[in-house]
This record gives sequence, C-alpha cells and structure tokens, in this order.
Amino acid sequence: MNNGEILAVRGLNASYGEAKVLFDCDLDIQPGQVVTCVGRNGAGKTTLLKNIAGILKPTSGSITFNDRNLIGMMSYNIAKMGLKYIPQDKKVFSDLTVRENLELGSYATKDYNWDQVTDYFPRLKQLMDRKAGYLSGGERQMLMIGRALLGAPKVLLIDEPTEGLAPGIVEHLKNVFKELSKKTALVIVEQNLPLVCAISDKIYAMKEGRIVAEIKDGESIKAGICEQYL
Ligand SMILES: Nc1ncnc2c1ncn2[C@@H]1O[C@H](COP(=O)(O)OP(=O)(O)O)[C@@H](O)[C@H]1O
Ligand SMILES: [Mg+2]
Repeated sequence: MNNGEILAVRGLNASYGEAKVLFDCDLDIQPGQVVTCVGRNGAGKTTLLKNIAGILKPTSGSITFNDRNLIGMMSYNIAKMGLKYIPQDKKVFSDLTVRENLELGSYATKDYNWDQVTDYFPRLKQLMDRKAGYLSGGERQMLMIGRALLGAPKVLLIDEPTEGLAPGIVEHLKNVFKELSKKTALVIVEQNLPLVCAISDKIYAMKEGRIVAEIKDGESIKAGICEQYL
C-alpha cells in the first residue's frame, strides 16, 4: 500500500486446524476493477475470500482495506466498513419475501435506496412479495447481490455467482458486473472461463493454496490464457 489499491492482501497464510490451506497469498484490487480468481475445486478460493471477509482468521499475513488493517476485526464490522462477502451457497431467508430480505439489508445498513438494487435487477420488482425460498437460482443470486449493494459497499467478494445458472442469467450478470464495478470493485471467484475473460481486469489463478499466476495483460486475458491453470 498504497498504489491506489482499495484492498491489498499480503503473504496470507491460513489453516483449518492442523491442515494448512493458504500459502503466502497476495491479492490487490483497485477501485473500478473486476478481479477474478480461478482454480480447481479445493484450490483454496473460498478460503481466501472468507479470510478476507473476516469469517476465518488467517494464521499470518496482512489485509488492508481502505488503508485500514482488517486482521483481528469481526466480519460484521468489516461488512459495515464496506467490504462484503456473498457466499457460494446462495443462502437467503427462504421464509421471508424478497421485500423482507431487502428490508433486513436496509435495516443493517440504514440504506433504504432500493432503486440502486432494482436498476440492476428489475426482475426483483416483480418478485417483491414472493418468498425467497421459491426463487430460481438466478433470482436468488440477484437478491443476494442486490441486498449486498445496500450500504454502497466499496468492495464485493462474490463466490461462484454463476454456478448452476442458466446461460441467459449468466449473460445478464456479466453485464451487471461490468456496470457495477464502476462503483464497487469486485473480487469474483468463477469457474466460467468465457465469463472470466469477458469481465476481468486481472485474473489470479490458484492451485493447492497458492496463487500461481497473476494475469493482467488484456490480450492474455482475452486469449483465455488462464485455462492452463485449471
Ligand atoms: N471447513 C473446513 N475444514 C477443513 N478443511 C476445509 C474446510 N473447508 C475447506 N477445506 C479444505 O480446504 C481446501 C480449500 O478449500 P476451498 O477453499 O473450499 O477451495 P475452493 O473454494 O477453491 O474449492 C480443500 O482442501 C478443502 O478440503
Ligand atoms: Mg469454493
């Protein structure tokens, strides 16, 4: 820090009990960027995001967000500061309606401006009274991202947002990510390589807990060079 990064991770090591899972991981993102993280199942992508979000505690390393050190902070305080994590499991409050799910997000952030959510996801307007448990996977992802946008976060960490979604919705999310990144920097874990190539300013490839490549040259990104790391 600081070359203009909003988030900088340095030498991050993390374990589950005795099992070491992350080894000296570095990651940077600047405002306005989309950074993606690719790698096979078990590479450590989710563990990396959870450590950044404060859900897991790293064994060593540093995480700086908006010039503040996050190590030791509780995850809800990190979220309040404007760094939010959207987990892989797409869990919403299934017995609550879309409106009630958004109300919870507004209650937590004191941000009641839902236009910023429905501008990106007009479909949610029609679904306001539907219980979240009855949403399709794509609609649920929209709700999760929409709810996370309340409070105008500076960085969103999104774990496998398009997993299992229909191509039409993936295309919609692709456009949303490009647009959204102008206001909120995005760190996205993603297995869909065409999508990765279309949206990334930088790609980190992970293997066995290590970041084995950092690809930031636009031509290489377009050429799908990260395929060799999967
Ligand atoms: N709760 C856990 N307890 C113990 N080991 C875990 C746990 N979660 C993940 N792991 C292990 O950590 C490694 C990285 O997992 P993960 O971060 O989920 O990878 P990815 O998201 O890239 O698929 C894997 O070897 C996985 O088995
Ligand atoms: Mg994962």
